[in-house]
Amino acid sequence: MNPASARGIPQDLIEALRDAERVVALTGSGISAESGVLTFREAQTGLWECYDPQQLATPEAFERNPRLVWEWYEWRRRLVTEAEPNPGHLALAELERRVPNFTLVTQNVDGLHRRAGSRDAIELHGNILRARCPAEEIVLGPDQTGAVPPLCPNCGGPLRPDVVWFGETLPSAALEAASEAARGCDLFLSIGTSSLVYPAAALPYEALENGVIIVEVNPAETSLTPHVDYALRGGAAKVLPELLRKAFLPL
Ligand code: OAD
Repeated sequence: MNPASARGIPQDLIEALRDAERVVALTGSGISAESGVLTFREAQTGLWECYDPQQLATPEAFERNPRLVWEWYEWRRRLVTEAEPNPGHLALAELERRVPNFTLVTQNVDGLHRRAGSRDAIELHGNILRARCPAEEIVLGPDQTGAVPPLCPNCGGPLRPDVVWFGETLPSAALEAASEAARGCDLFLSIGTSSLVYPAAALPYEALENGVIIVEVNPAETSLTPHVDYALRGGAAKVLPELLRKAFLPL
């Protein structure tokens, strides 16, 4: 491990990024923290510190009380809609333009990567701006009707947010694409995630097994930190633009 913290970004990392043909970035809620979106596990402010996921983010919770679940997601949807992408999101959109083969994988459901200009983000955990009919497995855009929960225009059943809940499996095509990209890249960036939630948390280890350079961007240490080649300590909105500037000057 090569902790980079206050000393700035190591020159060999800058060169590795500049020379990389294939780069994967895996993001978590920390990249959106500086946009005002809440993370999940940070003391006091994390969503799962303040709310019980068993009551709000499981299929059973939705069956029990679809209105409660929908209203909670409506609140989160409002926060996300009012938020703006930050320089960290913008730097990843720029990285997509700079690196010959770039794959962005996100655990976030906030859609901020797309709004920042990233074109093909793999959304492992879905997107709260979309709804889905659980009976028919049809994905729909944002609800316009205002009903709580909104009803499927086809079958009349209650729609759910198009996100992955606890106890559910991830979309298999998305996970496979992410895993293949992780195993085949030259450099893997793990940004703003506690690296605790599987299977997303397995991706850097899959890369590691294939000799990929692993870089973590996070103000705090995580369970992944001891395994990474470079730990860049700081907020993504500051560290990522700096990394980009140094690797690809003039931007
Ligand atoms: P966590 O809340 O577990 O972790 C957030 C991470 O972001 C922490 O390691 C923070 O130190 C870091 N962080 C905070 N501010 C940051 C900043 N400005 N820049 C960079 N990093 C920062 O959130 P996730 O790892 O995203 O799943 O959680 C993973 C999954 O758990 C989520 O996708 C969600 C949740 O249950 C589902 O909803 C399916």
